[in-house]
Amino acid sequence: MSKSFKTFLKHTAKDYHNQSVNPPVVRASTIIFKTLQDIRKMQDKAKKNPTGGYFDYGRQGTSTTHILSKILNEIEESYHVFLTPTGFGAVFLAIFSVVRPGDEIIVSDPTYNPTRVLTEDFLKEFNIKTYFYNPHDLKTLEKKITNKTKLIFVENPGSNSFDFQDLGKILLIAKKKKILTAIDNTWGTPYFLKPIKLGFDMSIVSATKYYSGHSDVMGGSLAVNKKVFKEVDKTNKVTGLRLGPDDAYLITRGLRTLDVRLDKHEKNAKQVSEFLSKYKNIKLLYPHKKDSFNFRMWKKYYSGASGLMGLKIKAKNKNSVIKFVNSLKLFGYGYSWGGFESLALYQDKREQGNRKFLKLNKDEHLVRLHIGLEDPKDLINDLRKSIKYLK
Ligand SMILES: Cc1ncc(COP(=O)(O)O)c(C=O)c1O
Repeated sequence: MSKSFKTFLKHTAKDYHNQSVNPPVVRASTIIFKTLQDIRKMQDKAKKNPTGGYFDYGRQGTSTTHILSKILNEIEESYHVFLTPTGFGAVFLAIFSVVRPGDEIIVSDPTYNPTRVLTEDFLKEFNIKTYFYNPHDLKTLEKKITNKTKLIFVENPGSNSFDFQDLGKILLIAKKKKILTAIDNTWGTPYFLKPIKLGFDMSIVSATKYYSGHSDVMGGSLAVNKKVFKEVDKTNKVTGLRLGPDDAYLITRGLRTLDVRLDKHEKNAKQVSEFLSKYKNIKLLYPHKKDSFNFRMWKKYYSGASGLMGLKIKAKNKNSVIKFVNSLKLFGYGYSWGGFESLALYQDKREQGNRKFLKLNKDEHLVRLHIGLEDPKDLINDLRKSIKYLK
C-alpha cells in the first residue's frame, strides 16, 4: 500500500469511467461476450492471471466483487482475498481447502461456537480429528501435534473469554513442524493486525462485522499467501461460495470509514473499560490492564483494540446478572456485532459451547458488550444505573 491505510480507503476505487466516487454495482449471472473468440481470450487471461478479475461466469464474480477483493488484498498485504457469503463461509473455505480425511487439526479452545461445532463434530464425519489447546498454555498445543497435523486454527482474541495469545510463538511451532496456519481476525481486522504479514497462511474476517459496519449485510473474506492460493482457489470453485455484488458494494462502502469507526470504537471502549474497572466484582476481559498477560500479548501484536469486550462478573445470583444486562437501555440484545450500535449479551453455556479450558466458578458469569459509536458518557450512565442490580 503506497499511501497510509486511512488515505488509501478514502481514495481507492474511484470510478472515473462512470464518474462515481464508488464503483457501481454490476450484477450478472451471464457474463456476456461480443464473440466466441472473446470468451477464449478471457479464459486464457484468467489462466495466466487467476487473481486478475477475469470471469466467464457470474459465480466467479463481477467487477464489483473484484474491486472489493482487491481493496481487501491491499489492506491485508496478502497474495489474494477470496470473498464468501458469510464470515463463517470463510472459516469453512479455509479449513476444507487444506484438510483431507486422515488429517488432524488443532484449534484454539475459545473459538466461535459454530467453528467449534464444524471442527469438533462435522469434521469427524470425514475422518478428520480435531484437538483443542489452551490459548494461554501452548504446551497443550505442542502436545497434540502428530505427523498427521495439517492445520493450526487460531481465533484471536478467543470468543467469550477474549484471551490474547502469543501469535509469534504459535507460528514458530507451526513452521518448525511444517503445519499450515489460519487465524480468525474478525475482532482486530487488518487495521489492527496483519496476520499474513506476521506469517499466517490464511486470515479470516467476517465482513458482516466492522467491514460493513452497519449491521445490515453479511459477508466474509479469506486472505491467503501464495503457498495456499491454489488449494483455496480450487476449493472455492468447487464449493460455489460467492458474495453477491449488492453485498460487496455495501461492504466496499462500509470500508471507506473502517478506520474512523474503529478509532472511535476503541476510544469509547477504553472509557467504558476504565469506568467498569472500578468495580471489584467485575473483571474486564479487554486489553486495558498493563500488568496482565492478555495486555502484553495484545500490545506485542496489535496496533489498537476494537469495541468488543467481555466482563467476568462475580455474583451469587445469576438472575441479578441477567437483570443487569436486561436493564440497559442503550444496549440492544443480539449476536452479530461490529455495527455502529452498542450491544449486550449474557454468555450462557449455549454461547460458550463445549469449552475444555474455560474455568468458571459457580458465582462467575460472562457478559459480552459491544461498545458502539454513541456518546460514551451516555453508555457509562446507562451501565452505572444497571450495575446496582448485581448481587
Ligand atoms: C469471531 C467470529 N468469526 C466468524 C464469525 C462468523 O461471521 P458471520 O456471522 O459473518 O458468518 C463470527 C460471527 O459472529 C465471529 O464472531
